[in-house]
Amino acid sequence: MKQWIDPVEADAPRDIGSKSTLRPGAQRHYPSDSAFDRIARVVCRAGCLPRKELYESWEMAKRVRSNLRGSRVVDLACGHGLLAYALAVIMPAVSEIIAVDRRLPPSASRLREAMEAEWPELATRVTLHEADIRAFEIRANDIVVCAHGCGTLTDRVMDVALAAGADLAVLPCCADHSRQDDGALSGWVHPDLAIDVLRAVRLGNAGYKVWTKTIDKAITPKNRLLLGRHRHAARVPTASA
Ligand SMILES: C[S@@+](CC[C@H](N)C(=O)[O-])C[C@H]1O[C@@H](n2cnc3c(N)ncnc32)[C@H](O)[C@@H]1O
Repeated sequence: MKQWIDPVEADAPRDIGSKSTLRPGAQRHYPSDSAFDRIARVVCRAGCLPRKELYESWEMAKRVRSNLRGSRVVDLACGHGLLAYALAVIMPAVSEIIAVDRRLPPSASRLREAMEAEWPELATRVTLHEADIRAFEIRANDIVVCAHGCGTLTDRVMDVALAAGADLAVLPCCADHSRQDDGALSGWVHPDLAIDVLRAVRLGNAGYKVWTKTIDKAITPKNRLLLGRHRHAARVPTASA
């Protein structure tokens, strides 16, 4: 007998790693006034991002807010920019959020329009820039974030954040085993894990308080989140939403 799929059930947000695009009709799955549901509805209205991007950005944004401090957020290799916008919403005390990508995809402007329609103040707090990750001078009071910087891109983001003594959160992506140091650990652990372990050690050696966290593997298999807070004597505190 043929199994019919209820269209509402088929569309239900249980598959948080789904690559299908969130469309306006999916707003009904996010009915509350919570920050997450409001962001989710905006993403649905923008109609240009896979569901997994919503959950990925949100999970990373929450952990950044919980652990890092700074007066400015710089999202390097931002792609669509949802991480930057989620941080802008849940960290209202951060006055400036800069999102940078050498090639901003069309989804970035669609998301920007939808976000600014929901939160008009974001038009002045969040700016998108088509530029290289080295185009902006990073400051000690910045929080540098990078979600899924491929291969050595994550390391180059770490370079600029560490050089400035900025707080940092990276969610590394695919590794390039021919170019990245695995510390000869790949006889014991997967080379991707070895590379990320060395990144965490690097952060600790640079004077950072380090957190190694994961986001739900159902969202993405590239789920290791590395956070570092520089042990500056004085930091500008940020208020949580
Ligand atoms: C896998 S995507 C991740 C995008 C986004 N952060 C996300 O989580 O969906 C990697 C992004 O890095 C950007 N990128 C690569 N090299 C870059 C560079 N040197 N400067 C700025 N952006 C770069 C690419 O254009 C691409 O949008």
